[in-house]
Amino acid sequence: MAVTSAVILAAGKGTRMKSDLVKVLHKIAGRQMLAWALAAARDAGSCRTVIVAGHQAEQVSQQFAGDPDVCIAIQDEQLGTGHAVSCSLPQLEGLSGSTLVLCGDTPLLTGDTLRRLVNEHISSSAAVTVLTARLEKPFGYGRIIRDTEGRVRRIVEQKDATSEEQAINEVNSGIYCMKLDFLREHVGNLGSENVQNEYYITDLVGIAVAEHAGCTALIADFSEEIYGVNDRTQLAQAERVLRNRINRNLMFSGVTLVDPEHSYIDAGVRIGIDTTIWPGCVISGNTVIGSGCKIESNSMITDCQIDNHVHIKSASVLTESHVGENATVGPMAHLRPGSVLGSSVKIGNFVETKKVIMGEGSKASHLTYLGDAEIGSDVNIGCGTITCNYDGVKKHKTVIGNRVFVGSDVQLVAPVTVGEGSLIAAGTTVTMDVPPDSLAISRTPQVNKAGWCLKKKNND
Ligand code: UD1
Ligand code: CA
Repeated sequence: MAVTSAVILAAGKGTRMKSDLVKVLHKIAGRQMLAWALAAARDAGSCRTVIVAGHQAEQVSQQFAGDPDVCIAIQDEQLGTGHAVSCSLPQLEGLSGSTLVLCGDTPLLTGDTLRRLVNEHISSSAAVTVLTARLEKPFGYGRIIRDTEGRVRRIVEQKDATSEEQAINEVNSGIYCMKLDFLREHVGNLGSENVQNEYYITDLVGIAVAEHAGCTALIADFSEEIYGVNDRTQLAQAERVLRNRINRNLMFSGVTLVDPEHSYIDAGVRIGIDTTIWPGCVISGNTVIGSGCKIESNSMITDCQIDNHVHIKSASVLTESHVGENATVGPMAHLRPGSVLGSSVKIGNFVETKKVIMGEGSKASHLTYLGDAEIGSDVNIGCGTITCNYDGVKKHKTVIGNRVFVGSDVQLVAPVTVGEGSLIAAGTTVTMDVPPDSLAISRTPQVNKAGWCLKKKNND
């Protein structure tokens, strides 16, 4: 019978993180630790996942509120992993077969390994199947005690283990597949007679053996997968592993990472073939990048859509923006939320845009601020142009028609509209609408005083 549910134990505070935020909500490669565990559970077939929350249960619950497959069980007091899993039983009512049990703090676990655990569980018909690993340094983990024939007998915690048991290097991952009937029948019988006075889920292994219900173990092929995150050094270590996996997948799918060690790309980002990413880029959120793009060093791209053959030059920052095909952005450009650039647009150095729509082929090549503006196609925005969009109280809109030429050092005092095909002379402050095909110029007439400098010098 397939496994269709999972329980993720996540009620602990994570004291060693020294954080105001509960451990399982810390992000790794753009995804909360808990979300990584959830993704693995889903990948292995879970259609209903119960998260056992305790510390900051409200925040945890909020994070997954929109997810119909996830429900939250509350463990008010952290009395141990055995007690935690018992808190999930009401949410599993009506389900039969087996359930996965995971920890919220093992983000490196893959759906592949979980599926292999499920297969082992089903083929062995055991009541409990535990995922184990062989570690060079098993300190801290529960140890797997096997009999002379190699059958799993029980699990002993580090703190309860004799020195002989501590020498065993096969450890408990804290990840299990269990028959629900067995769990329901026995989880209430766990005792807390141990060094920590906690109800241990691990004691279910001993119970399964005593009851002849069957217990097997699957040894993980890659022991890193069971790695638990307890402090920020381990958080950074897990981040390295996950980023490495993401980067390898991207490279195998046709993306060039000039230096994968220094490419920071979140889970969930999609990038097309033949795109090249230079070192130091941070690409995060729901970003989608097309094919044949060049993303130069130290650019930061968050929640953006970048179409094919776009060139983002060094040190540009793009947030919640859309860049059309063949456009060029940067170096050192800042696209703030709501920037929508048409194809072949050019945004040059020290240009900032916000809530701007720019039509095909338009250019703002240098030192410009464009905010709350609608700009047509083939418009030239000269160096030093500023949309004065804010009057101290409200934001106002600037509309610029197709083929307008805006000279250098122009201020457009919004709300204002410049008609198609017009020319705004350099240095103009535009305070009234400009009709189509017109010249707008506002300059104090220049006066040249001949010989003035010479006279001044002689008088000094
Ligand atoms: C547990 C296992 C240990 C295993 C290790 C793997 C037990 C008794 N021991 O130990 O054999 O090697 O995981 O990482 O299970 N939690 C709750 N409520 C509680 C206690 C814990 O929800 O009352 C959650 C924690 O938030 C965490 C998970 O359960 O996500 C594991 O708890 P933790 O205290 O870290 O167990 P370990 O001592 O690491
Ligand atoms: Ca742990």
